[in-house]
Amino acid sequence: MKAKMTLHREFSIGETDKRIYGSFIEHLGRAVYTGIYEPGHPEADEKGFRKDVIKLVKDLDVPLVRYPGGNFVSGYNWEDGIGPVDKRPMRLDLAWGTKESNKVGINEFAQWAKKANTDVMMAVNLGTRDAEAARNIVEYCNFPKGSYWSDLRRSHGVQDPHNYKLWCLGNEMDGPWQICHRTADEYGRVAAEAAKVMKWTDPSIELVACGSSNARMPTFGSWEAEMLDHVYDLVDYVSLHIYFGNHESDTPNFLGRSLEMDNFIKTVAGICDLVKARKHSKKIVNLSFDEWNVWYHSNNADKQVEKWIEAPPILEDIYNMEDALVAGCMLITLLKNADRVKVACLAQLVNVIAPIMTVPGGNSWRQSIYYPFMDASLFGRGTVLRCPVTADKYDSKEYTDIPYIETVAVHNEGNNEIAIFAVNRNLKENLELEAGISGFGDCKVIEHRSLFNNDLKAANSAKEEKVKPVIQNGAKIEGLVGSKKLSVLLPPASWNVIRLK
Ligand code: AHR
Repeated sequence: MKAKMTLHREFSIGETDKRIYGSFIEHLGRAVYTGIYEPGHPEADEKGFRKDVIKLVKDLDVPLVRYPGGNFVSGYNWEDGIGPVDKRPMRLDLAWGTKESNKVGINEFAQWAKKANTDVMMAVNLGTRDAEAARNIVEYCNFPKGSYWSDLRRSHGVQDPHNYKLWCLGNEMDGPWQICHRTADEYGRVAAEAAKVMKWTDPSIELVACGSSNARMPTFGSWEAEMLDHVYDLVDYVSLHIYFGNHESDTPNFLGRSLEMDNFIKTVAGICDLVKARKHSKKIVNLSFDEWNVWYHSNNADKQVEKWIEAPPILEDIYNMEDALVAGCMLITLLKNADRVKVACLAQLVNVIAPIMTVPGGNSWRQSIYYPFMDASLFGRGTVLRCPVTADKYDSKEYTDIPYIETVAVHNEGNNEIAIFAVNRNLKENLELEAGISGFGDCKVIEHRSLFNNDLKAANSAKEEKVKPVIQNGAKIEGLVGSKKLSVLLPPASWNVIRLK
């Protein structure tokens, strides 16, 4: 099977915002406790943070981590997590039916984020709480000194403000499962008032309004339009969330799911622009895809887990080869929409639907989805190129016209490197990709790395890494300087990054 693409220096979709390689840590399952934080573990540092986990996070180069939830945030009293640790309350977390000790709170998470070389995207509780708690947490985190909350922070040993720049106005408020779910109108009003006082407290912050929890919500579309009517002038981004599953083990259909993600992005961008037009506004509201991943493997097991315990092992999906392909297609989709998607968070980062897993008291390991995320994060920064592609297509149970190849290219002007990311969706055949490359001078292949396994259900574990990248030989570039032709073979059902310089 063959595919052709064209890369030209001048054909640009837009610049990547590095924050599209964000991730997410929620107080959920073992993400925090026995995930990033495990005092007494042989790898724990003086604060109790696992150094082995920090190393794996740093290797991914994650610029931003959303915190502290997720559904958790809609019942969270952020004040429970500050001050002397031994005085912090044990609370019931109604979102996940667990207990929260509050041993890790805002300031501990800030310490972890610094060590992991990442920034924090904070979320405020607009479920059980409102504008008052939201403006206070901004004051606690960002106000330098000389006010009640900023001085309280200083009395907790944090002299300099955290200066968090990106804030979510609640989480999935359209979902009936959310603690104190609201209608679009109710949410729009509370989000608008919270946004006002948060920005009055710190005018430098950016705000994300809750969009739909997924594109299949009955209120999808009307939710965005109605709530934006209240908050359009006050917010900078609308959030999108999506999780894909393969319950019927229909791999061709599963691999087509990123088309749904692309459609979701384009529809929400369209609604933002509709509200912009209605308001005769010049302002563009962009998108924050702050939860995306595969999530379904753990659904049944989670129903058996005892309630009201601390840090239970829930949402511990074990990802296989085909999940890595879907994650790769989702990353390519985010890149192809770089003109509107400015923030994105792989949900989540450690233990909970995550690329990084830990064994309590034991080792940490990389899931299959770790690798496409790492490749995209390390090499997918710069100008995203609009690359016309000619390829065969197929239909599946839910989708039509799925191209056998999902691909995009990013030009990093800083080091003059081009990275082509490509997924071969053909489960049986190699795909011969031919790319015409113009306007980049003389370029050579630096590396072609692939991720594949004949067994699409193969997965890594604490003991064995069955899905890991392989260096390929054989990619070649021919032609004259300024107009070159790349030929490369993509193995069946594979994720690939081809780096040129
Ligand atoms: O990431 C897991 C959960 O998925 C989050 O808490 C929630 O926002 C979403 O439904």
